[in-house]
Amino acid sequence: MLLRTADFRRRARARLPRFVFDYVDGGAEDEACLARNRQALDELRLVPHVMRDTREVDLSVEVFGRRWSMPAGIAPVGFAGLVRPAGDVLLAKAAAAQGVPFVLSTASNARLEAVRAAAPQAVQWMQLYVMGDRSIAEQIVRRAREARFDALVLTVDVAVSGMRERDMRNGFRLPFRPGLRTAIDLAAHPAWSIAAALAGTPGFANLVEAPSTPASPQVQAALLARAMDRGLTWESLAWLRRLWDGPLLVKGVLGPGDAAAAVAHGADGLVVSNHGGRQLDVVPAAISALPGVIDAVRGRIPVFVDSGFRRGSDVAKALALGATAAFMGRLPIWGLAAGGQAGVEQALALVKAEFERTLILLGVPHADALAHGGLVFDERRTGAADE
Ligand SMILES: Cc1cc2nc3c(=O)[nH]c(=O)nc-3n(C[C@H](O)[C@H](O)[C@H](O)COP(=O)(O)O)c2cc1C
Repeated sequence: MLLRTADFRRRARARLPRFVFDYVDGGAEDEACLARNRQALDELRLVPHVMRDTREVDLSVEVFGRRWSMPAGIAPVGFAGLVRPAGDVLLAKAAAAQGVPFVLSTASNARLEAVRAAAPQAVQWMQLYVMGDRSIAEQIVRRAREARFDALVLTVDVAVSGMRERDMRNGFRLPFRPGLRTAIDLAAHPAWSIAAALAGTPGFANLVEAPSTPASPQVQAALLARAMDRGLTWESLAWLRRLWDGPLLVKGVLGPGDAAAAVAHGADGLVVSNHGGRQLDVVPAAISALPGVIDAVRGRIPVFVDSGFRRGSDVAKALALGATAAFMGRLPIWGLAAGGQAGVEQALALVKAEFERTLILLGVPHADALAHGGLVFDERRTGAADE
């Protein structure tokens, strides 16, 4: 039974070859940050209010003029087409069905126009990686604008790739040359292998303007190896501003100083994130970094958070600390592996049901009111942190 998100992970593990499961599941170096994201969320406590009227519940929030059915969405995940053919499209459709936003990765395997058109009613944001050749980013932004994406999300925590030992051990790099171990792995997962063989090798479809001329293998390998432009600075936001007039978010901020700099340089939103523990292993859990960022931003722009979110109560914790919404990376991908679009929808519905139950039990039945609920209890002190 799929009762908790761990069940989705187990299903995904059974269905996916080891090198694909590890690509999704793994973190950097000792995977300490990966674990810390969970620990910090688990250690945070919320103190409920009792004897409150909770007959009417409203999970929805408004973000940049659009209403989301709950304050959670799907974070950008590259290579979703490896998990399941057309994975990006299935994720976007599931997001539409559940009324939550979907962030499409630069490293998607479907072209951004196709994903946008497959779920026109969904809130869709385009995530941007800026590689050495900036003309690649420029054409992506132009196309995202023409395809009417709702926001642009610049990811800034990948100046180089984190050291992901699982991927190294599994030989997961382009050009992909499966060894004996991978061949056995593929044979042990026939459903995945047959579907993958029929669909063909997924490529990075967004790197070139014209669909008829795929990007060179070198450029594709550079994206998988996350070879980004290390000359990107806060001043670069002005360059993007000239190309993009909609909401512009910066993803991967952890420090209050950086949060203040992002506001000063005109960002419209922030995503507090450590990339799900896949980049620098020694950074704080995203939920631990959130209060400092909220203080620095002082309500001027919305602050989002991701990394480690698995439950509706995790989302409630983020909102109680002042976030506008939380994003999830791995959970929807496990849903995708487990059951395609229906699996993603089921995973999102589970989080929604948990979030609703949490709001009722907290005595704060409106998502919007969580930040003012005085709910956060810090065990290291002796009382409630707020109120
Ligand atoms: C397999 C995988 C691929 C990812 N690819 C991208 C990406 O292309 N762009 C990006 O900004 N973040 C990417 N991320 C990071 C997610 O957007 C998000 O920050 C992270 O997954 C949140 O942590 P969670 O998986 O614990 O929810 C990726 C994460 C995973 C697990």
